[in-house]
Amino acid sequence: MSVPTVKKKSAKKKAKKVAPAKKTSKKLKATAPSKNNVKPKLYASLVVQLLSLLKGEHDFIANAANFSALLFSSLPNVNWAGFYFLKDDELVLGPFQGNPACARIPMGTGVCGVAAQRLETIIVPNVHEFPGHIACDVASNSEIVVPLFDGERLLGVLDLDSPTIGRFDDQDAEGLNELVTVFVAHEERLGL
Ligand code: SME
Repeated sequence: MSVPTVKKKSAKKKAKKVAPAKKTSKKLKATAPSKNNVKPKLYASLVVQLLSLLKGEHDFIANAANFSALLFSSLPNVNWAGFYFLKDDELVLGPFQGNPACARIPMGTGVCGVAAQRLETIIVPNVHEFPGHIACDVASNSEIVVPLFDGERLLGVLDLDSPTIGRFDDQDAEGLNELVTVFVAHEERLGL
């Protein structure tokens, strides 16, 4: 893969939220502690399932396709899940699940292009408040974009859309970052 060398930002850094999320109601706050483990448990199970899907398979496209299908079928309230890979300083559509999407996104454009340019995970609680958001599916209301790195090199981004405002939070960012790290580590071991 021919990609420019770019400096990776700290994976520990919190995902950027670009628009204020709606205030959490008192009722929601009161029930939050019992729900706190739901997402981490789901992502932990997805790591196990992803490793099982990747095991013994050497084809990058097949693995990326199965990865996007795993996310799309397992995560609630998601209407698009897939990849854009960096090719000649542009993001090009990769394997995905959901409605047909724009094939190319310039760096710095849309949520994907901004995440790729900033080299950081971006959570957008309401895409209609994000300047330059590219609407591929009118049903999408919130989005998370996670960059993929091969060491210090940007490979592309993982993009997830949801019809629910404020669907993605820091637990999603953490879980998805772990999953893409597992995915890229597997591909690296295969010399891709
Ligand atoms: N909304 C993205 C474009 C890709 S689709 O959501 C699949 C963006 O603004 O970059």
